Amino acid sequence: MSEATTMNAGETRGYSRAMRTIHWVMAAMMIYVIIVGFLMGNGFKVGKHYDWHRATGFLLMMLVVVRVIIAKLSKPPLPKHVGDKGLQQTAAITVHRLLYASLFIQPFLGWYATNTWGVKNIPFFFGLTLPPIAEKNREWGNQLLEYHHYLGLFITALVITHIGAALMHQFVFKDDLIKRMLKT
Ligand code: HEM
Ligand code: HEM
Repeated sequence: MSEATTMNAGETRGYSRAMRTIHWVMAAMMIYVIIVGFLMGNGFKVGKHYDWHRATGFLLMMLVVVRVIIAKLSKPPLPKHVGDKGLQQTAAITVHRLLYASLFIQPFLGWYATNTWGVKNIPFFFGLTLPPIAEKNREWGNQLLEYHHYLGLFITALVITHIGAALMHQFVFKDDLIKRMLKT
């Protein structure tokens, strides 16, 4: 029997400080990027936020690498529930993995699509620029932006599911799961 299945179900050891910090920083950036993305996609004039969407999205792609490294190095807390919550845990892990994967794919797609659409140099922060990775091809660029749109919808659904699950734990199961992301 593994350690996890012999654990006391009431145990609440949390994530490491590094994991908690990066979780909340990335969560805030993600929500910002999604909101601005939909404003952009729906023809709103967002000014500076247009550049910030792309720069923050790219930063998320860099941070997800840092996060995967931190996750590998820091000892994750044991699952909250054991035995009878198998399906729930599989669902949570699946959503987490899909979030990690989309944080890598979506910014790359956005970058590729922007170059293909015709914008060569994409401003990043600190006066830096993302170098072009693709040649201009307007038709293909529009197609790629459409994929960016659909993946954006899918990611939004993932984030809503994830936040919804956190709220369920808080107010329906009342098991204080949130504390694992707030303290060690
Ligand atoms: C703002 C609302 C959010 C709340 C309340 C929240 C809450 C939580 C909680 C409580 C956990 C720990 C689950 C457990 O102990 O089993 C967690 C894990 C996680 N969250 Fe969030 N989260 C939020 C936003 C986000 C966003 C926007 C993302 C997307 C980047 C995200 C990505 C993740 C990932 C990948 C994990 C798994 C950590 C791991 O084990 O690697 N969260 N979240
Ligand atoms: C995690 C990172 C990202 C997320 C979640 C995200 C999400 C989104 C969403 C939801 C939209 C609205 C799509 C629509 O309704 O048409 C959008 C639009 C857009 N995104 Fe991103 N994006 C990310 C990163 C990037 C990056 C890194 C770039 C470029 C370097 C980029 C470039 C664009 C562009 C150019 C649009 C506007 C499309 C239009 O005007 O029709 N995105 N993004």
